[in-house]
Amino acid sequence: MRFTHAIVRPPAPTFAAGLTAADLGPPNLALALEQHRRYCGALEQAGLELRHLEQDARHPDSTFVEDTAVLTARGAVVTRPGAPSRRGEVADVERCLRECFTDLRHVVAPGTVDGGDVCEADGHFIIGVSMRTDEHGAAQLAGHLADLGYGASIVDIRANAGLLHLKTGLAYLGEGVWLAGTGARGCLESVRGAPLGRVIEVAPEEAYAANAVRVNDVVLIAAGYPRLAADLTRNGIRTVALDMSEFRRMDGGLSCLSLRY
Ligand code: GLY
Repeated sequence: MRFTHAIVRPPAPTFAAGLTAADLGPPNLALALEQHRRYCGALEQAGLELRHLEQDARHPDSTFVEDTAVLTARGAVVTRPGAPSRRGEVADVERCLRECFTDLRHVVAPGTVDGGDVCEADGHFIIGVSMRTDEHGAAQLAGHLADLGYGASIVDIRANAGLLHLKTGLAYLGEGVWLAGTGARGCLESVRGAPLGRVIEVAPEEAYAANAVRVNDVVLIAAGYPRLAADLTRNGIRTVALDMSEFRRMDGGLSCLSLRY
């Protein structure tokens, strides 16, 4: 699908107080802001018009806007994030979505969904039940997607401690091509209805790089993962590498930083 817009939100002054298990030390806010600016520039270069939300110091993880909604060409679903500290992030995002989506639905309690657990492949949505997304939320989301005319598969990734979210280890690059880290590859085996062509495997030592994101004619990848960059180039895929060091410290990746539609 071709995107025309994205919602983004810069990291807040409280960014370092966000959730993380990365054990890489605190992020440098000035550097994170610069990396975010470059990320926004890459989205604009790929043809997207950006809607910038203001920094939200009350929610340290609020730069990771992807977790707050699931967007489709036919409607949007506002999520209920799994981490209680993140639930308040949805209000501003919902206000923004109301301006561009007429069909707006919600995941409601007791269900929880983080958008990072939802991987779309040509109109089929794989939903990961994870530490953040539970069975109730996954079922609600699958129901909303079915109403909108989309198929969905629910996979359980809780046995894989390395995956905070499904898209921590899995990305759909279009034309049947997937990017999968070792922990996420197995998810594809149980999925019916998604295009399953080639799987490009991400080496365990480059696991962070599995969170790549296709934006129109390019794939954004994290800088510093040469094996993956070479594999993608060999497969004829145009990449743009972005430094993500400060977001990695806070368990965030490239897809988490925008809601694309
Ligand atoms: N820091 C991103 C998250 O844990 O939700």
